[in-house]
Amino acid sequence: MERKDFIEKVGISAASILIFGCMQACSKSETATPTQPGGNNNNNKPIDFTINIAVAPYTSLSTSGGFYVDKTNNIIIARTLTNEFIAVSAVCTHQQVTLDFVPNDNNFFCSGHGSTFSTTGAVTKGPAATPLKQYQTAIAGNILRIFA
Ligand code: FES
Repeated sequence: MERKDFIEKVGISAASILIFGCMQACSKSETATPTQPGGNNNNNKPIDFTINIAVAPYTSLSTSGGFYVDKTNNIIIARTLTNEFIAVSAVCTHQQVTLDFVPNDNNFFCSGHGSTFSTTGAVTKGPAATPLKQYQTAIAGNILRIFA
């Protein structure tokens, strides 16, 4: 075997090993499940976390009628005009648009196609047909707990 042929064959083999190794490494990272504190609606971990409503970015909840969308857990948390804390899934069950809380109507509104949901997550106007998941809340001082 000539030197040139040897180098060519060794080079092709080395490249094959590198490509195979890279493909294995890449496929492993794509299938990894991210872990998030407090759980996440998307991976079925239980929801149980606290926020301080006196500290940013949660200060909108320190006044009645305010609301906050927790993107980590896909939960919309609202404070009604009668100062109840409520929490439901933040994603519309029709076509996954993020919801808003409308304090004067005391409901959640989807700007996608106009669906509305009650404070417990029930559909009050379509086209959405499936209710939102409701979460429990408990307030102690400025610490608000949201849990399933
Ligand atoms: S996405 Fe919410 S009503 Fe269509």
